[in-house]
Amino acid sequence: MNQSTHHHDHSGDAEPTLAEMREALTAGFGDARYAGSDRVWSGRANQRLVEQVADLTPGTALEVACGEGADAVWLATQGWQVTAVDVSEVALAKVAEHAEEAGVGERLRLGFYDALTDERPVPRKRFDLVTVSFLHVPEPDFARIYAGIASAVAVGGRLLVTAHHPHDVESGVRRPHGPGLLFDPARVLTALGADDAQPGPWEVEVAAVQEREQVVGGEAVVVHDTVVRLRRRA
Ligand SMILES: C[S@@+](CC[C@H](N)C(=O)[O-])C[C@H]1O[C@@H](n2cnc3c(N)ncnc32)[C@H](O)[C@@H]1O
Repeated sequence: MNQSTHHHDHSGDAEPTLAEMREALTAGFGDARYAGSDRVWSGRANQRLVEQVADLTPGTALEVACGEGADAVWLATQGWQVTAVDVSEVALAKVAEHAEEAGVGERLRLGFYDALTDERPVPRKRFDLVTVSFLHVPEPDFARIYAGIASAVAVGGRLLVTAHHPHDVESGVRRPHGPGLLFDPARVLTALGADDAQPGPWEVEVAAVQEREQVVGGEAVVVHDTVVRLRRRA
């Protein structure tokens, strides 16, 4: 993608540019935050991943935007052969560290992936499970990025997308860095041609908004997760 021209039409309105988005995303969750401290490491896998993987037979898995790797390490401990990718080199180094500590280093591979510029997370490879949690990208780029991620799912395999639902912005629980970043299940289905209007290669196994209690700023609040699980038919 040509970043210098992509958002020309938007100059002057509130849409962030790709460069601004990358800066905002990595400032919040990238190298600046991951460097120097283990504080962000809870080691706990995402609840939605644990729930959605419970009925699957371990095989090959790709975790996109893995962060410090709690999900990737957990999947490896469950017997999955895992590839974990992220834009943050510092985060990837932490994943390697945590995988070694958990004794699953041999079941985990790492890769660099920038959703804003790379067409696919891992060229030329398909996985039984592709999971992406809390990767909130600019709305104009959403379909392209998530289609690229979905292209890594093998026939018969699953795509699991977990995200913060826009309810959390409306209720004031979250303040994302730009408008339209949080998304509902419909945005995923539309982007992948998995909605009713366009019968495609995907079987929709889960498309839901699920509530969860979380401590935000020292206060227990109810937050809303977008959870989409698709199975590739062809
Ligand atoms: C909110 S964190 C979620 C991390 C992890 N999936 C989890 O659930 O704990 C967002 C992750 O997306 C990564 N990220 C941000 N921008 C990205 C980009 N352009 N390409 C790939 N990953 C990106 C960040 O480095 C960070 O690890």
